[in-house]
Amino acid sequence: MFKKIISYFFPITKKIKSVHNGYLELTVVNGRTVLDTSNTNYSYGSLQRVLKFSLEHTDVSHAENVLLLGLGGGCVLKTLWNEFNYKGNVTAVDIDPVIITVAEKEFGILPDGKTRIVCADAQDFVKDDIDKFDLIIIDLFIDNIVPEKFLQQEFWKDVLKKVNNNGTIIFNTLCTPFTDIQPIEAKLKRRGFQSHVYRYVERTNKVLIANYHLEGC
Ligand SMILES: C[S@@+](CC[C@H](N)C(=O)[O-])C[C@H]1O[C@@H](n2cnc3c(N)ncnc32)[C@H](O)[C@@H]1O
Repeated sequence: MFKKIISYFFPITKKIKSVHNGYLELTVVNGRTVLDTSNTNYSYGSLQRVLKFSLEHTDVSHAENVLLLGLGGGCVLKTLWNEFNYKGNVTAVDIDPVIITVAEKEFGILPDGKTRIVCADAQDFVKDDIDKFDLIIIDLFIDNIVPEKFLQQEFWKDVLKKVNNNGTIIFNTLCTPFTDIQPIEAKLKRRGFQSHVYRYVERTNKVLIANYHLEGC
């Protein structure tokens, strides 16, 4: 409680070293904890607003299974549960065991009957896992970079196999550094997805939202 009060006057930062993400910074500011890396917000700051915007442009009401690639501190799960009243299943994947511990200890993101947390490379996960999902949120960064392999056809081929009919994919990227998502958008259109790219969300992010709808179903 004392820490929370002090944080209204002086932000308090704790640094945690991670092999995958470099130095993670947990900062208590105005009574709230945010998770940052050296160059960007990872969770509970502007990123949470970007993902909330994305969910507002998605029909979450029929979703029963959500796949989150990139758990971070899990702020989008809090948004889904608290602001969209989401009650379905969640599978959250992250490569970094340090991040998974931070999500658990600092933000209370714990596995339970409806929430599965997997420590794995997202690329391996989408290749090996056989489940399908109504909503797939792809939020994969190392600091402020989306790793190149998540822009490649191989990864997207596996992702597309995991979307249910009437399902949605949200792909979060940054405007700077520039991430070329045009080939992904073109592939999605060829595969019958309706997609839209929202630019400068929170002035920094570029979000692709794609819906899959099979004719006649
Ligand atoms: C911006 S954070 C995700 C924030 C999160 N979606 C939230 O709601 O708080 C990006 C995450 O991507 C993870 N990541 C990066 N490369 C990955 C990979 N190859 N496989 C799985 N996770 C990865 C990082 O460890 C980091 O936790």
